[in-house]
Amino acid sequence: MAPANRSTETFYITTPIYYVNDRPHIGHSYTTIAADCLARYHRLRGEQVLFTTGTDEPGQKVARSAAARDMAPQEFADEVVEAFKLMWERLHIDYDRFIRTTDPNHVKVVQHLFRRLVDSGEIYVGQYQGWYCVPCETYLPASELQDGACPQCGRQVEEVAEPAYFFRTSQYADRLLRYIEEHPEFIMPSSRRNEVRTFIEGGMRDACVTRARTEWDIPVPTDDSQSIYVWLDALTNYLTVVGYPDDQYFQTWWPPQVQLIGKDILTRFHGTLWPAVLMALDLPLPETIFAHGWWITDEGDKMSKSKGNVLDPYEIARQLVNISDATTAVAVDSLRYFLLREVPFGLDGSFSWPALLTRFNADLANDLGNLLNRTLPLMERYLDSRVPQPGPGAGELADQIDITRTAVEEAMAQIDFRAALEAIWQLIAAGNKLLDERAPWNLYKDAKLVELEAVLYDVLDCIRVIAIMIGPFMPAIADEIREQLGLEAAGTSQTWAACQAQQLPPGIHIRRGKPIFPRVDVKRSLSRLPARAKPADNDQPSAQPPAGTTVTIDQFNQLELKVGVIVEAHRVPAADKLLRLLVDIGEDQPRQIVAGLADQFNPRELLNQRVILVANLEPTTIRGIESQGMILAVGDEEPIAVVTTNRECPPGSTVR
Ligand code: MSP
Repeated sequence: MAPANRSTETFYITTPIYYVNDRPHIGHSYTTIAADCLARYHRLRGEQVLFTTGTDEPGQKVARSAAARDMAPQEFADEVVEAFKLMWERLHIDYDRFIRTTDPNHVKVVQHLFRRLVDSGEIYVGQYQGWYCVPCETYLPASELQDGACPQCGRQVEEVAEPAYFFRTSQYADRLLRYIEEHPEFIMPSSRRNEVRTFIEGGMRDACVTRARTEWDIPVPTDDSQSIYVWLDALTNYLTVVGYPDDQYFQTWWPPQVQLIGKDILTRFHGTLWPAVLMALDLPLPETIFAHGWWITDEGDKMSKSKGNVLDPYEIARQLVNISDATTAVAVDSLRYFLLREVPFGLDGSFSWPALLTRFNADLANDLGNLLNRTLPLMERYLDSRVPQPGPGAGELADQIDITRTAVEEAMAQIDFRAALEAIWQLIAAGNKLLDERAPWNLYKDAKLVELEAVLYDVLDCIRVIAIMIGPFMPAIADEIREQLGLEAAGTSQTWAACQAQQLPPGIHIRRGKPIFPRVDVKRSLSRLPARAKPADNDQPSAQPPAGTTVTIDQFNQLELKVGVIVEAHRVPAADKLLRLLVDIGEDQPRQIVAGLADQFNPRELLNQRVILVANLEPTTIRGIESQGMILAVGDEEPIAVVTTNRECPPGSTVR
């Protein structure tokens, strides 16, 4: 890993480019928040930073999703790209470049690279005989299928027998193994390094790098019958975005210092195909590829659209606003904090509301919030809100600040966000402890003004340092703290070098605002959350069996499915996707249902439709409206049709 005191001044960091078949969710957001945090940290250190992200658009997966929405792929992609950009803005992501693989310049670079590899004999023509998983966009030999399905996602694979081009990955196996051995920082964490090693040692085949031509993919420049395989195209984004092949800009930035990815795209792609292509192009390899773990649901399930259990981070932040009175910016940053603090970066984690709220109360409201909320009123009361001189006796936290700075540097060099935050929280604890021990209220009572000034100076100075250190993790909260300390107005420097004691300018005026973290009543809040966001009740059977398992007829019979007739349909104000439906199921009153159908259906076209309702679903409140069931709809991504009956059946009829 790049040591904390790397001599180079540039820091190039990438996220994967995300498929546009899916709206951004907590998984994509995790990688992007982590990259943003590292980028901000390196900017603070005064390095020149390039942080890139973007979207992966060609490929059958996207083409099929577009077709399901009856849209042209480009139009569909444009729409989802906007959703990604909006999400990044909402999550305080400060990227430098956003690359789309449909950018004409990228298409040219991919074709250039392909031609170059053909010319050098690294790519040759052959015949592909095997399987293809469209959701994973992965070629799979029969030997790797599990029960005839994709070993990664468990879904159906398609048989392919067609002429194709191959890249000589196998030729690089030994060199790669050696490289991994000699550069332990190349693939992190070490458990993932071992996975890649085992994969290579298992025998690396040449990679198929084309598919039969489709309109939506990048064409092979010299062969009309073929398109370039979406993964070769996608990996090239990291080169395009810095001006490959011949730009001065490229020389400045290549190679990346850190490439963050999820563990799912390491072994076949970033850990093997990618470095082999770079070796074939005679380019230096990235310094570190870090593969983080996955967020799963609190029921231990992988998130997927089809299971309807995908978490939207902005939705979580909005719910946190509802239950805590925090501002949206604070709620977003609190979620960023939670994601980076709760789980070691390389491991899987499960999202749960109790865990989030506990962190919010204990770490943010209690530890950090209290430090601020205790100190600023004391300043108002005793020192007329003016920062005093650091007179004799000041500097008590200087050692702790130095220790923390070093610990954070070491942790960030290892991409260990959790350890960095733990270190910062020790400094927060030290600030709180100093207040407890030196009790400024007693010093005031005893007229020990010099000591009083020294303690309050130290604690304020410590908060200043903390605001710098938490900035990469919680940028909006850091700004708010700086605002309250009067640092913004005083124009003090916000650099890593300023993380030292006694740099707080005396004389500045603090401006206490509202408490940043209003405490949350966890028990009450949990009962106010929508059912899906509530924690799993371990005594209840899990609502979603793990993928690939079956349900018994008894389990199925637990569902009460009824025929209903939609008697009213309205848009929900200020909620683009939601409709409020009244559905007659033969009870004395129609059921009120809030359904995410507004994107695809006009309320009028749903009137009098006969639908199937899950009648015994736990009621939930969406946008303040109670939803008393769910109507069945078709669609992997977005609902494309509602399920109806082929004969007229009276409302309330049982569906089996
Ligand atoms: N388009 C490819 C990547 C090409 S990079 C040259 C792709 N895209 S993706 O949209 O499927 O996003 C994959 C990345 O999203 C994962 O590698 C990971 O970074 C992140 N995540 C998606 N779901 C996730 C979780 N549930 N948990 C954590 N991160 C996961 O693969």
